[in-house]
This record gives sequence, C-alpha cells and structure tokens, in this order.
Amino acid sequence: MKQICVVGVGYVGLVTGACFADLGNRVIALDVNEERIENLKKGILPIYEPGLEELVERNVKAGRLSFTTSYKEAVKGTEFAFIAVGTPSGVKGEADLQYVAAAATSIAENMINPMIIINKSTVPVGTGDWVADIVKGAQPEPVDFWVVSCPEFLREGSAIVDFMSPHRTVLGSLHPDAAERVAHLHLPLRAPIVITDLRTAEMIKYASNAFLATKISFINEVADICEALGADVKEVAAGMGYDKRIGPMFLDAGLGWGGSCFPKDVLALAYMAEEKGLDPRILNDVMDVNYERRKEAVTHIGEMAGGLKGKTIGLLGLAFKPNTDDMRDAPAIDIAQDLTAAGAKVRGYDPVAMDVARPVLPAVEMFDDPYTMAKDCDALMVVTEWNEFKQLDLEKVRGLLKSPVIFDGRNIYDPKTMKEMGFKYRGMGRGFNGR
Ligand SMILES: NC(=O)c1ccc[n+]([C@@H]2O[C@H](COP(=O)([O-])OP(=O)(O)OC[C@H]3O[C@@H](n4cnc5c(N)ncnc54)[C@H](O)[C@@H]3O)[C@@H](O)[C@H]2O)c1
Repeated sequence: MKQICVVGVGYVGLVTGACFADLGNRVIALDVNEERIENLKKGILPIYEPGLEELVERNVKAGRLSFTTSYKEAVKGTEFAFIAVGTPSGVKGEADLQYVAAAATSIAENMINPMIIINKSTVPVGTGDWVADIVKGAQPEPVDFWVVSCPEFLREGSAIVDFMSPHRTVLGSLHPDAAERVAHLHLPLRAPIVITDLRTAEMIKYASNAFLATKISFINEVADICEALGADVKEVAAGMGYDKRIGPMFLDAGLGWGGSCFPKDVLALAYMAEEKGLDPRILNDVMDVNYERRKEAVTHIGEMAGGLKGKTIGLLGLAFKPNTDDMRDAPAIDIAQDLTAAGAKVRGYDPVAMDVARPVLPAVEMFDDPYTMAKDCDALMVVTEWNEFKQLDLEKVRGLLKSPVIFDGRNIYDPKTMKEMGFKYRGMGRGFNGR
C-alpha cells in the first residue's frame, strides 16, 4: 500500500484518486475549493462521471480514500503527489499555469519528507523543469524531491475504464529511478509503459490530443465534400475505419470537438510552436475547420426553418459530448448564442448537464424532458449524441413540433427513415443532405 496525495479533485483528480485507492493505495485528495471537499465528505460529487460515485463511496468506506483542504495533512508522509489542477487557456492561447504554480508552491511549503511530484495536468513542454524550480524555491528547508510527468489520457464519460485500462502509461523524468517508482505504481493497470524524458512526455500528450482533433476535423472536411458530391460520410468513415492504419475511432462527422481538452490543447500547442517562430499550419486549420461547424449548423437550421427571427429552436443535448455534464467550450454555447443573435428563441434539454448549463446559457429556456421542449418548436437540432435521443419516440416528436424540422448535428438518425416519417431532415455529410 502506497501513500498518495492528489491535488485537485476535478474530472482527472477525483478519478485518479478514486482509482488509485481502488487499486489498494491510501489516497488523500486535496482541493482548495472548500465546498467541493465538504460535499465530497458527505458523498456528494462535484462532477458527473458514470460509476464514479460508487467507486468513491466504496473506497471512502474502506478507509483508503479521504478528502481535505489542508496541504499539511495531504503531503505528510506521502510518497507520490499528483498535481491534477486545471490548465485553461490564457489570453494569448497559452496554457495558464497559475494553478500548477500555486499547487507546486503549496506542496513545497508543506513537505517534510522526500517525495515524487507528478504532473498529471496537461502542461506545456518545459513545465516539469519549471515546477522543479518552483518547489526548490518555496521549500522552507531542503527536502529531496523528483519531478515526473505522467500525462492523463482518460476521456470524460468513460474515465474509470480509461484510467483502469489505459492504452499506455507515459512517464517522463530526468531521474530514471523516480520514473521507475511511478511505473511500479501503474503496474496493476497492465498497460505498456513508455519511459522518456520530461519534455518528451509533455509533448506526447499535446501531440496525441492534436492528432485526435485533427482526425475529427479531417472527417468533418470530408463530410462537406461528401455532401457536395452525394456520398454518405457515415459509410465512408465505416469503410475507412476497417483499415488498421486508420482505425474507426474519431471519425464521426458532426458539430466537431469541444470540451475541456482539445480546444485548449490544440491552441496551446500552436502557441508553443509560434513562440519558437514556427508556423503550425495544420493545427490552425484544424481549429478553423472545427469552429466553422458551429456556424454552419446555425446557417443550415435557419435555412430549414425558413429564417430564424421569431422562431423557436430546441437543442437536444447541451454537454460537449454524451455521458458528461462538462459544458466547457461545448458547441451548444456558440450555437445558442448565434441563434439568439439571429432573433430565435432557444430551448434546451440535456439528460445530465442542465444544472451546469443553466448559468452558462442564461438566455436558453431549459426543459425537463425532450418532448415538453419539442412542443411548438419550429425546429430541433441534435447537439449532443446522447443514447436517449437515439431512442426518442419520433412519431410523438413530429406531432409536437410546429413544423417537422430536425437538423441532426451528430448524424444519429437515418436520413431515409426520417424522410419517410415526414421530417424535413438534414444531417452532416449525408449525401446531397439526405435527399
Ligand atoms: N477533463 C479531462 O477529460 C482531462 C483529460 C486528460 C487530461 N486533463 C488535464 O487534467 C488537468 C485537470 O483537468 P480537469 O478537467 O480535471 O480540471 P477541473 O477544472 O475539473 O479540476 C481542477 C480542480 O483543481 C482545483 N484546484 C485549482 N487550484 C488548486 C490548487 N492550487 N490546489 C488544489 N486544488 C486546486 C480546482 O478547484 C478544481 O477542483 C488539466 O490540465 C487538463 O487538461 C483533463
């Protein structure tokens, strides 16, 4: 049993803490947000993640997982301190490292025994060295420590499975012994472990996210070409995906990527490149293609509804993807704003993100179920591909709508069936718009 502290109990930190506890370690999870910690002590989670509540409850009960706001308590006796705080975009697109700096400083001020400090947050290349300098500078008395980079690759919505069965664990350090000790902690996960230097590990994370974002923007560009030429992008993607060199994942055409990672990570990688005098042309185009999807969606639904002024448009799904309540850079935000600016009244429904969405989308009228929302709408737009929407009673929906118009921003319905059911339907890249 190892003693671990995790700093930051958000999507990554809470999952990391609960999973390491479940693997038999003793974990103290720390956050500066007192309300979060108080709620966690009562069993109330700050985020929605399938299976996480049960995992937290089980490990708290077993005495392997506890929560605190006290750095003194968290770092005392710990061998491994994971930093899992946010690294949002700064004003110029760079990763804002203020939370990482604060966490590293607080760890240093309170450490009384040697430990390995592990950057799990996604941080720019060179941050590991910088964290080491911060810790050295903030220690009241010199205590040995080693910095290791261990970027996280989990996906919200399947975070526990992703953590417990990763495709690989990446570790970077200037101290091979420290990297080996962190590798040992990950052995029960039975995944390949890549041990490299600090900067390379940090770069692997950015390059991986940028590649996945590129794959999505690529298929979205292909979707537009499909639409112009009368091909169906869903079948094109399926046909491509059987090729092992390509693979089937991240080939879903639609409204593009959002969330807490791809937008800020692609931007931060482009920023790092530009800082070094490089011109990251692919990354910039990948972002442009992505954000144009949101504008195109508003144009398409406006055309389908015969204009937007005075029309009521219902959004099916608000979270940036299914199985999460995360609204960070969700396409729904831009889409709702543009619809409102064009004079439409916007309604919204999401199976789990409503509470998070309300303050983010104050102009959107929220509904408790999709049918009540659909009543008297001029058009619906599928924004998030929740399974619930795939199973909607579409006959009922058609009867409720003022006019039977559906713009399917996630291609969850079959164009032919929708047409047969009497809908004016459009997906993205479905061959002459499904006509
Ligand atoms: N969310 C994901 O799917 C995901 C996946 C892989 C990697 N990452 C990366 O992991 C990092 C964390 O992301 P997240 O989505 O979990 O963030 P989050 O915003 O959900 O959580 C961050 C937490 O850190 C806390 N915090 C901030 N400053 C602190 C401090 N000084 N001391 C202690 N706690 C502090 C906040 O209160 C918050 O609870 C980011 O760098 C992100 O890029 C995220």
